[in-house]
Order: sequence, then C-alpha cells, then structure tokens
Amino acid sequence: MAVSMVSFGGYTRPHVYLLLLILLPLGRHTVDGVWPLPQTFTSSVERYPLNPQTFYFGYGRQSAAQPGCSVLDAAFKRYFYLIFPDYIGNGVLRFSEVKPFNIEISVDHEDCEGYPNEDSSERYNLSVSAGQASLSAETVWGAVRGLETFSQLVYQDDFGSYFVNKTEIDDFPRFAFRGILLDTSRHYLPVHAILKTLDAMAYSKFNVFHWHIVDDPSFPYQSRTFPDLSSKGAFHPMTHIYTQSDVKRVISHARLWGIRVLPEFDTPGHTQSWGKGQPDLLTPCFKGSTPSGTFGPVNPMLPSTYQFMEKLFKEVSSVFPDSYIHIGGDEVDFSCWQSNPDIRAFMKKMGFGVDFTKLEAFYMENIVNITAALNKTTIVWQDVFDYHERIPKDTVLHIWKGAGYRTELSRMTKAGMRVVLAAPWYINHISYGQDWRVSYNIQPLNFSGTEEQKKLVIGGEVCMWGEYVDATNLTPRLWPRASAAAERLWSDEKQTSSVDKAFPRLQDFRCKLVRRGIRAEPLYVGHCKHEYQGV
Ligand SMILES: *[C@@H]1O[C@H](CO)[C@@H](O)[C@H](O)[C@H]1NC(C)=O
Repeated sequence: MAVSMVSFGGYTRPHVYLLLLILLPLGRHTVDGVWPLPQTFTSSVERYPLNPQTFYFGYGRQSAAQPGCSVLDAAFKRYFYLIFPDYIGNGVLRFSEVKPFNIEISVDHEDCEGYPNEDSSERYNLSVSAGQASLSAETVWGAVRGLETFSQLVYQDDFGSYFVNKTEIDDFPRFAFRGILLDTSRHYLPVHAILKTLDAMAYSKFNVFHWHIVDDPSFPYQSRTFPDLSSKGAFHPMTHIYTQSDVKRVISHARLWGIRVLPEFDTPGHTQSWGKGQPDLLTPCFKGSTPSGTFGPVNPMLPSTYQFMEKLFKEVSSVFPDSYIHIGGDEVDFSCWQSNPDIRAFMKKMGFGVDFTKLEAFYMENIVNITAALNKTTIVWQDVFDYHERIPKDTVLHIWKGAGYRTELSRMTKAGMRVVLAAPWYINHISYGQDWRVSYNIQPLNFSGTEEQKKLVIGGEVCMWGEYVDATNLTPRLWPRASAAAERLWSDEKQTSSVDKAFPRLQDFRCKLVRRGIRAEPLYVGHCKHEYQGV
C-alpha cells in the first residue's frame, strides 16, 4: 500500500490514498448544491483540486474596485476560512499572481465605502474552470453574494482535500427585500448573538436585518438625546443596553455582508418601556374620573409628544444609515385613550367623534411627516393602512396578520402601495415535525392582482419574536428554518416548486451551517459528515 504525505492547511498527515482512490466509488463526494438555488446553474463532473496554501483572491484588471476596497478585502478574509473550514495554517493570505487556483473578482462600480440599499444590484456571474474562477458583479454586494455561492461549491473528499467542479452560474434575487426580524425588547440579545445572526443571514443571502429594538418590556437603545429612555427603560441600565458603539458595530458588520439594518421604533402602542424614561409621553388611563396610575399608548394630543418624536427620529435617522425607517403602528389598544377625558375632549375638538382609529391615523400621519422630512422611506405595520387608507403612497406596508394575508396583498397593492410580506413567516412559532416545509411552500405572488400589482411586493421577512427566545435558543430556532424562506425569496419560483427536491439540499446546507459553527437544528433523522464541534 502506498503511503504518501499530502500537505494541506499547513500541516501534513499520512494518507493511504492510492489504493483507496481506486476502491472508492467515483462520484461519492458530490457537490450537493447551493442554497438558495441560483437562477441558472450548470455544473459538470470535471473537478479541480484547491489548495489553501496556493489559493488566492485577486481583483480583475478591469474591476472598478481594487485592493483597499473595504467590503471585498474583508470578504476575502472571511471567505478564505469558509472555503477552507479546517485550515489551521498560519493564515497567510495570498494576493499574488501565484497559480494554481485563483478566483478573480470584478465589479462595475466602486461602491466599497457605501451601504447596501433597496436598489443595490446583487446580481453576479460565477464561472469556474481549470485553475481559475471568475466572479463578476455590478456591485460589491453582488460580489459578496457570489463569494457565498463559490464557498458552497467547494467540497472535501474523505481525505480532507478540497475540490470545486466546473460550474457556470448567473444569479440574482427574485425579491429585493429579504429580511429577518430580531426582537431585542422581550429579551435582550447580546451583541455577539446579533453579529452571529448576521453571519448566518449572509449564508442564506438575506439582506435586511429588521431590528425591532424596543417594545413594551424594555428599551435597550441608548439614545444620545434621551439617555433616560434606556437608563430607566432597559432591563438593566448598564448591561442590557445597546450603546452607540454597539449599534455602530452591528451596522458596520452588517454592511460588510451587504446587509441593511432597518431600525424599528414602534409607536404609539408597544411603548410601556418608553414611559419610564420620558414623563408625560404615555396617555394616563382613567378609572372613572380619576387617573388609575397605569398608562396606555403614546399621548397623541400633546405637542410635546411630537417635539420628542422629532428629536428622537432625527437621532435615529442619523445613527442608522438605511433609507428606511420602521415606525410600527400595530396593535394599538384604544381602551386607555377612551378612558381619558382629555383625549375624549380632544377627539371632539378634532371632529373625530368616537372613532379612535381616526385618532390613531392622526398620530401616525404626524409621525410619517416627521420621518418623511428626514428623507426616509417609512415602513409601517399593516394596521396603519387598515385605519388610514390615504397614507402617503411611498410608505411601505408590512403585512403581519396571518389570517387573510392574500386578500391584504391584493387590496394593498391595488391601492398602489408597496408591501413586505411577513405574515406566513412568523417562525418564532414552532411545531413538531418539519415545519420548514410550510415556509417553503409559501408563494408571495399567489394572490389575485395584475402584473403591476405583483411588482409592488418588494419582498418578505422572517420574524423571530422574542417572548420565548434569547441567546440560548435563537440560533437553532432560526436556522435552518429561516433558510426555507430565504430560498423562496431569492430563487426562481418554478425551479423551486418541489419541497421534496429541496429537502436533501437543505439538509446539506444545514450541515454547512453546522460546519461553520452555526448551531442550526436538524431537519430530520440523519447525520452530518462534520458534526457540531462547539461547546
Ligand atoms: C462534481 O464532480 C464529481 C466527480 O468529479 C461528481 O461525482 C459530482 O457529481 C459533480 N458534482 C456536480 C454538482 O456536478
């Protein structure tokens, strides 16, 4: 038996590989595919070995971005270790002209220092042939998506050697908005848990992190303008807050993955924690003719409310660079407003009668005016449209109510509104069995409406509400279940119509997540070649 030394990853191990190579059935180590499925994908059995010690990333001569491009330089470092997961060498990266295998990246626009936005192209073209892969994209964000795909194409044989097959891919997302919502109010999520979620999001090509940062239970956002909001409204004023530098860290980490950070400051309901640090913001509830000592939604009749909101949103819009801002507007309980004699008098004066939806519409209109004046695209939960069909046309509606969401899709797009669909993807709800199949089978454009209406569906969002979720169970509850929605939002509808065909590829992808240190839960009975090694 021939014994040889094969070098990889900076250390050597003896291999009894000559004989085994003959005995092993050819094609056992297949490329199991890419998740989410690329739009066009052809591959062959021609395979090329990759050696981490000679592999390098290079910028194409014609590329608008060149070395020094922060997004791509950082992506090369990350993807080196994702492509070669057991590389334990000294980690010297090569940007030189040394063969045998390189991946050359070219982009049309030098947008290295910017932020991804709603119009950013994520299209890329990836071509793998002997000794060379070339990746071209319109933007650096497209290049990052292409690097993810390339990393998923690389596989190892039983000896740990790396290979990639001859491949041609032309790929782009079906929907521009592919989000994940994390709720950091019901439970505080440490920054590292958010950063890790951003990593995993990029593996599934999600591109929007919707940060539902505050709510009734706690106000962890540390405001520069109103520090009392977190010092009095967070679970703990020092340990359970997001400082300005925490927020910056999240935004810059997200940026490097081509992920937008969409902040939500939900009002006028869901604001109990706000009241602790901002006196007179919430409506005092009454019992008969006396205040009961409890508080309801934000007080919509006081000018001081709008002065406060204007200052807060001014800060928020400068801290978060994204062009969208989410102002909530869901589930407003009218009973407290109704109990308050001052509110009732205000209603009368405004001519609202006893219709509290009019008062809510009045409030939301004022907030929309504030965010619009800050040059932001406002996104609101669907309730706002239910009460207020005349909301400005450039507002984006966020559909969350599970019942009848197809009717809502028809109705809202018929009114010319853009929508994001979240309702069928509340995956904080769990059930026994393979509930990812339900998420996978959702067809966002399956509603009655014209082609023009369908174009108004800008994407979808997976929500992970935090009542029963903190850093201990966030990751296994999100992954790989969220990845089912990721493929629905990225890939071609017809090519991904079979949930059974998707199953083995998702199982393989889940193993890739595990290999990358993501505690993704199993889909069903089976094993991964590399089981979870974390502690
Ligand atoms: C990659 O190549 C190997 C052998 O060369 C083959 O067995 C496998 O099916 C190929 N994978 C794909 C996706 O073409």
